[in-house]
Amino acid sequence: MHLLNMSMMHAALVDSFGVPPRYGEIAQPEPAEDDVLIRVKAAALTNLVRGQASGTHYSSEPVFPAVPGNDGVGLMPDGTRVYFVGPETGSMAEWTVVDRRRTIPLPDSLDDVTAAALGNPGLATWGSLLGRAKFQAGEAVLINGATGTAGRQAIQVAKYLGASRIVATGRDEAALEGLRDLGATETISLNGTDEELSSRFAPVVQGGGIQVVLDYLWGPSALAILTACGGHGSLRGEPRIRFVQIGAISGRTLPLPADILRSSGVEILGSGLGSLSAAAILESLRTMYQAAATTRFVIDTEAVPLSEVTAAWTSDTGNRRLVFIP
Ligand SMILES: NC(=O)c1ccc[n+]([C@@H]2O[C@H](COP(=O)([O-])OP(=O)(O)OC[C@H]3O[C@@H](n4cnc5c(N)ncnc54)[C@H](OP(=O)(O)O)[C@@H]3O)[C@@H](O)[C@H]2O)c1
Repeated sequence: MHLLNMSMMHAALVDSFGVPPRYGEIAQPEPAEDDVLIRVKAAALTNLVRGQASGTHYSSEPVFPAVPGNDGVGLMPDGTRVYFVGPETGSMAEWTVVDRRRTIPLPDSLDDVTAAALGNPGLATWGSLLGRAKFQAGEAVLINGATGTAGRQAIQVAKYLGASRIVATGRDEAALEGLRDLGATETISLNGTDEELSSRFAPVVQGGGIQVVLDYLWGPSALAILTACGGHGSLRGEPRIRFVQIGAISGRTLPLPADILRSSGVEILGSGLGSLSAAAILESLRTMYQAAATTRFVIDTEAVPLSEVTAAWTSDTGNRRLVFIP
């Protein structure tokens, strides 16, 4: 009985897709070769975790009960504090098991909650800018959906990496203005008709005004940007624009006219699990945590005890990143 109790742990448990997790008990995971048992200190609730737990993300698996969470901050068996990604068992638990190659030692200057919150938007920004767009200092970036957690990070990361121009878009006009404090040099409201949006984007993206688009939204605003990039058959050749698709929060599909691609320098790339290998993900995140040791990347967080997971899962936290503490 004593041994049985020793091997149980508290965790968030998903019993079926579409139902918020409950707080319960489950067997503590056993590390296999190459794995380490990690004492979890903090795990962030991201759109990816929500999508996996609700069965709507392409990486969801219908295995129940499941512990949600695909990254976090914890202690290695030797006490080293690390950020970990891609654990074998979910991170919203007292313990998890991770391939030791997917751990990154953390600088003392970052607290657990901030370090846990930075991981997922770190992938959405450092992974997409460096891993996929191969961004170079001096290039101009347009961030579509910049008022969210990833978008706010993207502004700061683009500035840190030396972007010459940072154009931020969003539907919340008050929030959009606040993004100038983070480093946005221009803002564009997403409110209006499709034609109004395209005409707002055209002077910004045409003629080499933008080299990289980071798109967190897809849907109508992404189509308006792509439409604005369309050329008119110039024999000079249109400047290259790397359009990186990262999130599809305002629509999974869009009706893309073929001539936009034929007439422009647009190259559409994706950035996420699959298009970035585990090695590329880790390289991006290592770079981020090194930078975060000396540079403060602003991120709004809210720490919540894991025992309150059910209520917190569906609460409205605005643009604050919720982080569970087991
Ligand atoms: N591929 C990757 O590596 C990766 C990594 C991390 C995140 N992501 C994805 O990137 C996206 C953004 O993530 P996040 O963490 O920043 O999310 P978030 O913090 O929840 O922010 C969501 C953003 O989307 C905006 N938004 C929501 N619905 C909208 C609509 N219908 N039209 C226009 N804007 C809308 C919100 O605007 P308001 O501020 O006005 O509400 C907010 O700016 C998500 O789809 C997420 O899954 C991808």
